[in-house]
Amino acid sequence: MNISHNFFLYFKDNQPILFNYKEKKEYSPRKEYLRALVDYSNTEEDITEKENIVNDFINTDILTQNNNQDQPYLNYYAHMFHHITKDTSNAMADSTEEEWAGQYLEVCKRVKKVEFPRRGQIEDFEVVVTLPQADEVNIDLIDTLKKRKTIREFEETSVNIQQLSNLLFYSFGYVHGVEKEYGPFRRRTSPSGGSLQIIEPYVAIFNVEGVENGIYWYEPETHSLCKVNDHFSYQDLRECLAGQFFANDCSFGIFLAANLEILAWKYKTPRNYKVVYLEAGHFSQTSQIIAVTQSLQTWITGAFKESAIEKFCKMDGITKIPVFFTAYGKGKFSHMHTIMKKKLDEYRD
Ligand SMILES: Cc1cc2nc3c(=O)[nH]c(=O)nc-3n(C[C@H](O)[C@H](O)[C@H](O)COP(=O)(O)O)c2cc1C
Repeated sequence: MNISHNFFLYFKDNQPILFNYKEKKEYSPRKEYLRALVDYSNTEEDITEKENIVNDFINTDILTQNNNQDQPYLNYYAHMFHHITKDTSNAMADSTEEEWAGQYLEVCKRVKKVEFPRRGQIEDFEVVVTLPQADEVNIDLIDTLKKRKTIREFEETSVNIQQLSNLLFYSFGYVHGVEKEYGPFRRRTSPSGGSLQIIEPYVAIFNVEGVENGIYWYEPETHSLCKVNDHFSYQDLRECLAGQFFANDCSFGIFLAANLEILAWKYKTPRNYKVVYLEAGHFSQTSQIIAVTQSLQTWITGAFKESAIEKFCKMDGITKIPVFFTAYGKGKFSHMHTIMKKKLDEYRD
């Protein structure tokens, strides 16, 4: 017999929990069960005389004939995460459509009893830059999509405030105004889980005419930038991006953050973490497309140091977390930075 790979052990409130992450079942093992498991795992000590314990282990699949080990296509922790978040709750799967709608309404009524978390507001900030109203943007969609390309070498170029305003408004602004059918929620040009609008852009300004450098939080209600940090250099940016230097000389960058307080107001299952990243992806793509309409190029990264971004953007990393980064500016329309290309050429020679 083997100890199944489908379990991990953790501690909650000083109590051990054995968690079957595939079945999503928690067990609170008593001391003798834990001891038997530890003895067996270390030494494969014969525990057959502990018949009750062995039977319980077999009945709960903790001991199995095989070891339930899957092909490690995903990193093992990612594999566990995938299973923990797999299969949305199917409690309502067998209901009629009428029943389903009724049950959904009950969930909404329950959620509504809790006060909606307060969003940030411009009053919370000392320095606020009100952006000019966005221009009309008319584009050929397919042509724009074809022009989007990830570049990795920006050239020092200043962007005007109107380009920034357009990009922020059409990517993150409340472009529809107030829509009765969605009130009190708002919509933007990208879809949002439950229309909760958890994605919040933190804009790092390096070279934008009319806007002082620093990091700003974008407030879509008034289409303004609210200063969160006066000082932020390209070197600081590299610290955030795990040493990647491809955003050097970009005109501005955007850290997409997720407001987990708002997310958890409605969605509390482990699956909510998946939704955060799916949503960030939609906003990132929209902003890259809008960047093309503003004659800007982009570089994006999912490889970064959250703790550094939290420090510079003054996020607590609990109610709000960084989830993606996008740089905007003008540069070589090449997928490779000169330094990388030189290294590659030397290697080839
Ligand atoms: C989720 C995600 C993460 C990415 N992370 C990085 C990254 O860390 N560094 C980087 O240089 N490019 C990163 N990229 C950019 C991809 O390398 C790029 O999209 C790919 O090479 C295809 O090129 P294209 O965007 O021009 O179509 C990322 C793209 C996505 C969608």
